[in-house]
Amino acid sequence: MSESSRLDAEACQNPLLDVSNIVAGYGATEVLHGVSLCVEAGEVVSLVGRNGAGKTTTLRSIVGNVVPTSGSVAFDGQDVTGLSPEETVRRNVAFVPEERRIFPDLTVAENLKVGQLGGGDTAESRDPEEVLEEFENLRDHPDRRGGALSGGEQQMLAIGRALVAGADLLLLDEPTEGLAPFVVRQVEDLVKNLNEEGIAVLLVEQNVEVALELADRHYVLDRGEIVYHGTSDQLRENEDVVDRHLGVSI
Ligand SMILES: Nc1ncnc2c1ncn2[C@@H]1O[C@H](COP(=O)(O)OP(=O)(O)OP(=O)(O)O)[C@@H](O)[C@H]1O
Ligand SMILES: [Mg+2]
Repeated sequence: MSESSRLDAEACQNPLLDVSNIVAGYGATEVLHGVSLCVEAGEVVSLVGRNGAGKTTTLRSIVGNVVPTSGSVAFDGQDVTGLSPEETVRRNVAFVPEERRIFPDLTVAENLKVGQLGGGDTAESRDPEEVLEEFENLRDHPDRRGGALSGGEQQMLAIGRALVAGADLLLLDEPTEGLAPFVVRQVEDLVKNLNEEGIAVLLVEQNVEVALELADRHYVLDRGEIVYHGTSDQLRENEDVVDRHLGVSI
């Protein structure tokens, strides 16, 4: 067994999300060459990698926007490989894509209500007003239009909307991209609060500092392969990994 697969085998005793050796891509182009990762209930795990490494494709494969050509995705012990995004939502998996896709002409409250439509019988959908209470920046202005919100507020609204459908696992694709440092802190606080409520998070980031701040374990993806897996302490000690595969220094 290679070092990384041995680490993976030890990583999760009882995985909420178990991605095993997935191969996926677009048409004839293979992007993921056998990606494995897992997330336990209540954990925050990061998937870091540079531009084009395949981070978004991994999340798309988990939610069924991309169907893997081999490998499997299991959620709560059940095989969900290739299920549609709608079916994935019903299993309480919430996905906040990179492009936040909130509705500019709808109000904050209306944007949250749209999130309820995705949930099905098995989803534990939540009351939009209850979700809004957790969002300091949004709760006092439920009638503001989505298009009038700042980038950070839009990101928080997108997260809120995903939660309304009910979530045990939140998949976040670069939630801090393009945000000013003080807004990054606000998004970090929000993710910490949600995690304290018991929601597990798979966080895709290019910003390693944010990943280290929020997550307990980290997977480094490079050209469609997991090249490193470790705890925050291990990653901090492995400056060469960060330098080589992420092109930044910590
Ligand atoms: N819809 C698509 N059709 C064809 N190729 C795609 C498509 N989406 C992504 N790719 C290619 O797949 C590879 C991985 O892309 P992906 O978006 O998963 O990377 P990423 O790690 O999320 O990058 P970024 O940090 O820029 O968001 C890239 O080479 C990209 O050009
Ligand atoms: Mg991406």
